Amino acid sequence: MPRNILKTLQSEHDALRDLFAEINDTTDRAKKGRTQLLEAIEQNLLPHAKWEETVFYPAFAERADRDGLKTHAEAVLEHHAVEDVVIPEVHAADPDTPEFAGRVKVFGELIDHHAKEEESTMFKLARKLFSAEELASFDEQYEEWKQSNAASLVIAGEKGKTQLKSAMKSLTG
Ligand SMILES: [Fe+2]
Ligand SMILES: [Fe+2]
Repeated sequence: MPRNILKTLQSEHDALRDLFAEINDTTDRAKKGRTQLLEAIEQNLLPHAKWEETVFYPAFAERADRDGLKTHAEAVLEHHAVEDVVIPEVHAADPDTPEFAGRVKVFGELIDHHAKEEESTMFKLARKLFSAEELASFDEQYEEWKQSNAASLVIAGEKGKTQLKSAMKSLTG
């Protein structure tokens, strides 16, 4: 079987779904477990989201028709909503509180919704817009990028932004 970026992204969605199922199953006493699971979620989500935003989505938009562009706009806005609002609010709550549990639940629901839309609409279109060779080469590029310094810097920058936004949310309530 040739490699295929869409399969990789899909399996990363599934890994995220499993992690959210696990964190949603924790109690308010599981402070350490929740902290570790949130870290694992971000470790999985951030490279995935940043690579989609910087490489895959723009390549998709370049070839998409009107329906594809609408799907693309939805996906981009969902990423922004999660990065700018949801993740900072999760971080602004203490992991041993019901606030944290509620916010993490919404976080997981949005990721599941977003992943479903990608799988049922965007990836379906992408199978028509890109050749098997292109999908394989995206997959290679993605794997290389994930191991690069550039990726570590992008992820660190993203985490820094989250800390800043969550600190501001804690101030303003
Ligand atoms: Fe996405
Ligand atoms: Fe995705």
